[in-house]
Amino acid sequence: MRISLKRIKNIIDIPLDPTIGKERINVNSLKFKDVSFSYGKEYILSNINFEVPPSCKLAIVGDTGSGKSTLVKLIAGLYPISTGEIAYYYKKHRKEGVPKISYLLQDGYLFDTSIKSNIKIFNKKLSEEVEHLIELCGLKNLNKVYTEETIGEDGKYLSGGDKKRVELARVR
Ligand SMILES: Nc1ncnc2c1ncn2[C@@H]1O[C@H](COP(=O)(O)OP(=O)(O)OP(=O)(O)O)[C@@H](O)[C@H]1O
Ligand SMILES: [Mg+2]
Repeated sequence: MRISLKRIKNIIDIPLDPTIGKERINVNSLKFKDVSFSYGKEYILSNINFEVPPSCKLAIVGDTGSGKSTLVKLIAGLYPISTGEIAYYYKKHRKEGVPKISYLLQDGYLFDTSIKSNIKIFNKKLSEEVEHLIELCGLKNLNKVYTEETIGEDGKYLSGGDKKRVELARVR
């Protein structure tokens, strides 16, 4: 009983999704101002400051477990930051809300179905765009079998690179 209550408390203590009820905003630049973040007691990121001007690329480099993926999740507004501020801008105007940012997961999962169905899985309304996405993501020359038939559990019949290409085509 005590163990069950502890588990329930752990679930209740999970912070609410910070994206709920917030406006989705277009963003073309952002600034991190003294941002710190911890999942629990220890800080994973401390006093991070940087700016990404419009049309610029940002590469995040660091040791395994140093917080790169966490930083990307903070940029996408998926976790509430502990201290500091993330400022989003669109055409030089400061915007409040959750940025419309898509990101490709490091450890994404593909379903045991065709490439086309995998691409449509989060967006059932896609129709002719699927062919365009297949071409755009360099999957066009892949054996037709896989675009129409199953690619196996987690895409096990595909190469690692092609798996990532399918995930890229599926990004919303
Ligand atoms: N959801 C989570 N809850 C608690 N701790 C987490 C969570 N996600 C990551 N961590 C911890 O935060 C730290 C940073 O993890 P993160 O995934 O951001 O690292 P990374 O730089 O992307 O690593 P890698 O190069 O291996 O992908 C690690 O110590 C990890 O154990
Ligand atoms: Mg990572």
